[in-house]
Amino acid sequence: MYRSHNCGALNASNIAEKVKLSGWVQRVRNLGGMTFIDLRDRYGITQLAFNDGWDKELLEKARKTGREFVIRVSGEVLERESKNLQMPTGEIEVKVSEIEILNASKTPPFTIENDTDGGEELRMKYRYLDLRREPVQANIKLRHQVAQAVRGFLNQEDFLEIETPYLIKSTPEGARDFVVPSRMNTGQFYALPQSPQTFKQLLMVSGYDRYYQIVRCFRDEDLRADRQPEFTQIDCEMAFVEQEDILQQFEGLIRHLLKEVKGVDIQEVPRITYAEAMRRFGNDKPDIRFGMELNEINAMVQHKGFKVFDDAELVLAISVPQAASYSRKQLDALAKWVKRPQIGMNGLIYSKYNEDGTYKSSVDKFFDEAAQVDWHQKLESKPGDLILILAGEKNLCRKAMSELRLYMAEELGFRKADNYAPLWVLDFPLLEWDEESNRFHAMHHPFTSPKPEDLALLDSDPGKVRANAYDLVLNGNEIGGGSIRIHNREVQSRMFEVLGFSDEEAKAQFGFLMDAFEYGAPPHGGIAFGFDRLVALLGGSETIRDFIAFPKNNAGRDLMINSPSAVSADQLEELGLDLSPSQEA
Ligand code: AMO
Repeated sequence: MYRSHNCGALNASNIAEKVKLSGWVQRVRNLGGMTFIDLRDRYGITQLAFNDGWDKELLEKARKTGREFVIRVSGEVLERESKNLQMPTGEIEVKVSEIEILNASKTPPFTIENDTDGGEELRMKYRYLDLRREPVQANIKLRHQVAQAVRGFLNQEDFLEIETPYLIKSTPEGARDFVVPSRMNTGQFYALPQSPQTFKQLLMVSGYDRYYQIVRCFRDEDLRADRQPEFTQIDCEMAFVEQEDILQQFEGLIRHLLKEVKGVDIQEVPRITYAEAMRRFGNDKPDIRFGMELNEINAMVQHKGFKVFDDAELVLAISVPQAASYSRKQLDALAKWVKRPQIGMNGLIYSKYNEDGTYKSSVDKFFDEAAQVDWHQKLESKPGDLILILAGEKNLCRKAMSELRLYMAEELGFRKADNYAPLWVLDFPLLEWDEESNRFHAMHHPFTSPKPEDLALLDSDPGKVRANAYDLVLNGNEIGGGSIRIHNREVQSRMFEVLGFSDEEAKAQFGFLMDAFEYGAPPHGGIAFGFDRLVALLGGSETIRDFIAFPKNNAGRDLMINSPSAVSADQLEELGLDLSPSQEA
């Protein structure tokens, strides 16, 4: 028997009990005739005590252990002399009568502490050690808890969890596919799913009218804090539903998760159209925990002799609460910030509405106090507020202002991780124009249904067609997206046509789906949530890596197993992949 209790279990109620514990040595402290070992497992830390006067040999043995040794001890629970009430086990210690080293450990390359001295790269290389740290364990536990809460909710709502294949065929959803060569079919490839989209639609045709799956998806795209090449979705689909049914159903899921995991009650989730989100926030995933909305002020500021405004397609302003006290230095730093290539603006203009009722701007030469009063009135500023203005090309300016708004909110502490503000964004455009390929792309995916009232526009002005598509946004992060699907063969064919697929191409790629639509496809729709993003946000972070047991780094590498890696020539040959330089020519 290795243990009677775990290392987080013992407290004052166990005093005088005989116990057995196993775990890892967190720390050994030698104090004269005493030695203390902090013994750790995933449940907590228990202090083990050894004393010269109790047993010299035992003390010697204890002193031979080191950090991360795995040991088993037997002993008696004692009341501690100096208690640590911050720890659940802080009132007791175990007076050890037997100690056995189960396995020695090399000195770990970084400290297994909450605040470790290990850099990111080292911790990724030794991820199995990093996973021993309490904050990382808390994230992994949270992930488990959220998965269980998702399953609990959806099971109760009659959803069936059904697995779909990982070795499939390419489905165009915006990103590149990871492909897998087939040994038995030389020269042919499977693709790993970017999502189970077509399969879940086929399940609807098959009559499994409420499906879900917590499922791995694979996308070969550039990585960021909120993107991994393999990530997990809570993928859902329902038949015989309209958009409203889906919104209600999954608002229920989010409400359940926030309640179950964070103990937070949320009101009805507000809704906003894509067009409104872009206008008010410059962004299709607005963080609505604070104001500072974007105001177009072209009419107020143009043709007053200030060239920067006159030449601009768009002039946008935000009013930043309580920032009129910003110093010259702080304002210069902000101007520098918007000039970085990532933001790309030429400069930043400000106007202060000082606490004493005076106004001061960086363009006083062109705009007198009366003009500035107008601006502050339009933006509903209060004394002490600061107006920031950007001017330039429409899309660039909007995007830059959206970034600046978030930056200011971060600076001023308005983005509190424990304040949860979900939002539905509705009525996305069906199509988006792609300059590079000179054609329309599906903004969500090619199976998304156009709004019936916009169908006629598909011929005259495709860019104006709105889709029955929706995103769920949480604190400025897109955590879910979905749509009502096309379930009619003709409409689906028409859609492929608009997307530039020839009949043959559409048939070759999606013949199976269009065929299925001829055998009684019910109206259906669904949504998929980014599970890693959701867990990260519930854990108060936007970095999903920290919530995945074995993540990849920003270059898509797993530093621990060192992948991707080359494979042998034999393996390549067997797969019919000859990568050696051609002998011909
Ligand atoms: P979509 O492509 O919007 O929709 O993906 C759904 C959600 O998955 C998350 N996500 C990611 N998370 C981590 N790393 C990535 N690389 C990554 N890419 C996406 C996002 C996103 O909102 N089949 C459709 C869903 C549907 O229509 O039902 C789909 O996959 O949080």
